[in-house]
Amino acid sequence: MTSTAAEEIGERRSGIVISPGNPFNDIVEEDVDGLYRALVRALSPLGLAYLNVVHGGDENLIQKFRREWPTALLLNRRGADIETRVKDLDDGLADVITVGAQTLANPDLVARVKVDAPLNEADPSTFYGGGERGYTDYRALDSALHEG
Ligand SMILES: Cc1cc2nc3c(=O)[nH]c(=O)nc-3n(C[C@H](O)[C@H](O)[C@H](O)COP(=O)(O)O)c2cc1C
Repeated sequence: MTSTAAEEIGERRSGIVISPGNPFNDIVEEDVDGLYRALVRALSPLGLAYLNVVHGGDENLIQKFRREWPTALLLNRRGADIETRVKDLDDGLADVITVGAQTLANPDLVARVKVDAPLNEADPSTFYGGGERGYTDYRALDSALHEG
């Protein structure tokens, strides 16, 4: 028997991530706009808590999601700096911004942004490594200050 997360814990506790036009692992999608608008339209009545969109570069498409999606819109502006991502909140384009690699590389990301401290650069050679390297060994600002 199979069941969905929403069936087990309720739609209001479930969300979905979509990555329109993401070429990862040689994915090729045609008619990205038509495909994802149809998907989002079909999902809209379900009452999910959020839609998390990995930005594929099409600003118009994100704006359409913003207009059409009825609950919280989360946006991952892939590869962008924090200031650009925060602007999405200020502009009302998203309710929440999601941050991947910079969060990995900065265990204290929020504290750093608050005091405008420089960020550690993520090291892509350690992504998906299967071990702790690149996942638990980036330094927090405090330890960087105290250990030099
Ligand atoms: C180490 C690592 C692991 C990731 N794992 C996943 C995953 O399991 N599922 C997923 O949808 N995206 C995953 N991502 C993609 C991120 O969620 C995000 O979309 C991507 O890193 C681009 O956004 P960013 O610039 O905020 O990192 C991963 C990214 C990294 C760097």
